[in-house]
Amino acid sequence: MRILVTGGAGFIGSNFIKYLLENIDNEIINLDKLTYAGNLENLIDIENNSNYEFVEGDICDRKLVDKTIERKDIEGIINFAAESHVDRSIDSAIEFARTNFEGTLNLLEIARDKKIKRFLQVSTDEVYGSTLGESFRETDSLNPNNPYAASKAAADLLCHSFFKTYNFPIIITRSTNNFGPYQYPEKFLPLMITNIIEGKKIPIYGTGENVRDWIYVEDNCRAIEFIFRKGKNGQIYNIAGKNELSNLNLAKIVLSLMNESEDKIEFVADRKGHDFRYSIDDFKRRYLGSSTPSGQDYFTERLKSTIDWYKQNESWWKRIKSGEHFKEWQERNYTRRN
Ligand code: NAD
Ligand code: TYD
Repeated sequence: MRILVTGGAGFIGSNFIKYLLENIDNEIINLDKLTYAGNLENLIDIENNSNYEFVEGDICDRKLVDKTIERKDIEGIINFAAESHVDRSIDSAIEFARTNFEGTLNLLEIARDKKIKRFLQVSTDEVYGSTLGESFRETDSLNPNNPYAASKAAADLLCHSFFKTYNFPIIITRSTNNFGPYQYPEKFLPLMITNIIEGKKIPIYGTGENVRDWIYVEDNCRAIEFIFRKGKNGQIYNIAGKNELSNLNLAKIVLSLMNESEDKIEFVADRKGHDFRYSIDDFKRRYLGSSTPSGQDYFTERLKSTIDWYKQNESWWKRIKSGEHFKEWQERNYTRRN
């Protein structure tokens, strides 16, 4: 199938493209704006693959999206492109509304006109909000509590409306927190790992009791690909990792795997409106036939391999943490504008 993957230079998107090219016979066009979070180094291994092409551009750019779909005779779209960091959305939400909402709407309108056969929207468990009780199911109502989650929920509703109004073949996946190689080190897990390597403390918001469920990125990629092929139009599929942990407990596990003591933990001011616990039930996707290994041993093994990856790829994250990658990004944008 000829698939347009958007946001493929980011964390999950780049892992997804590599998974597809290694495992399944597809032609992939990667459309990515290369924001601060987009990084073509993530794709060096496959940049010359004859089934892959990179197009630099914005999902809000109607002409470019239209032309790319037409030129490559695209049959399916998987939309990863997003502003993805909650803390940044709390500082300023405009880009979140633009890319996550307006960008998705732009893609949907063009895809509908071009009669695209399948459109998968990559969403998040954050759209349900926090739960102290049962895990959320796909039929539960949306209750997003931060601007990032609100922009993703709005995009989900748009997708739903295109299915109901135009019978346009959308599918939504909502996964829990991903971890693995190539995650931008502003996110909790790579921030902890790289801080420990650098001999720094690890910042824990509030009391550290907030709970997240963690899934290894390749397991999410495998589930997304499976659901893209086998899922039913108009349906939502939760993708859980079944590894719920408080942030403090996760920090203690990472410290112990890296042979460091717990005095590396530093409690800092809490995030505004910090959701206490994300938890989803993903029976529906498992019933469809998509499964993910679980259990403490598997989780620990994946955490270890992730830690090893950051140890072995210091130059990748040091270029980001030192600000070098961002400086190049600013210079490129400046040159383009002038
Ligand atoms: P990321 O921030 O690492 O990557 C986002 C990518 O989108 C970057 O390459 C960026 O350049 C690109 N992008 C941003 N705005 C764009 C635009 N207007 N046009 C084209 N490209 C644009 O994010 P991620 O962690 O890889 O997340 C990918 C998707 O998965 C997002 O939709 C996110 O909401 C969702 N998600 C992420 C997680 C997680 O734990 N990381 C969990 C659930 C869902
Ligand atoms: P994050 O990786 O930003 O993902 P999300 O907010 O989408 O869940 O954060 C994961 C959890 O870790 C979240 O509860 C906030 C917390 N956190 C910290 O305690 N310290 C930090 O420095 C960061 C970035 C996050």
